[in-house]
Amino acid sequence: MYASEPFSAAIDRETGTLASPDNIYERPLSAMAAMYEDAEAVKAALAGGDPIIYKVYEKNMPELPGELQWCMSVTMPGKIGREYFMTKGHFHEVRDTAEIYLCTRGTGYMLMETEDGRTDAQEMRPDVAVYVPARWAHRSINTGDEPLISFCVYPGDAGHDYGSIETAGFRKRIVEIDGKPAIIDNKP
Ligand code: PA5
Ligand code: NI
Repeated sequence: MYASEPFSAAIDRETGTLASPDNIYERPLSAMAAMYEDAEAVKAALAGGDPIIYKVYEKNMPELPGELQWCMSVTMPGKIGREYFMTKGHFHEVRDTAEIYLCTRGTGYMLMETEDGRTDAQEMRPDVAVYVPARWAHRSINTGDEPLISFCVYPGDAGHDYGSIETAGFRKRIVEIDGKPAIIDNKP
């Protein structure tokens, strides 16, 4: 009858840590090498080590529609060639589930798109919340020079579907042109 119990956990807006996480995962460049546009720049970055692109501190909550998953997402600053460090990005497995990201540090974008081809990018900066509607794939992109950190919360049963994003990518990319972030088409 009760799937979870009341509790609380401190979050650190500056480091992105969440107290007593059930899961911490770190995504190195090698785990998402094919997602960047510039294969030569990926090779060069891998030759110099395998940078951690982002980290997630998660609470594992019951995978039920009435519960909530929550985490802190930390995307490092940096670029591969001209393309900023970014998360893999995903649709939710249960498509009709939304998500809220509250940015606590850094600057960047939440890049979003729908399966039928709509695209959007919302600016992320401290104390700004981004609403990711149901059915929109989403990816955080760090365009600044410090970690981009957000608190994320989404329905308990949402799940992550990386499939089409892993194979085809997003329709747009965010890259540095003339010293500034630019949203460009992802050429197949
Ligand atoms: O559920 C979310 O949208 C976030 O918690 C992400 O999982 C997190 O930012 C990492 O991104 P991704 O799952 O695309 O690797
Ligand atoms: Ni999500």
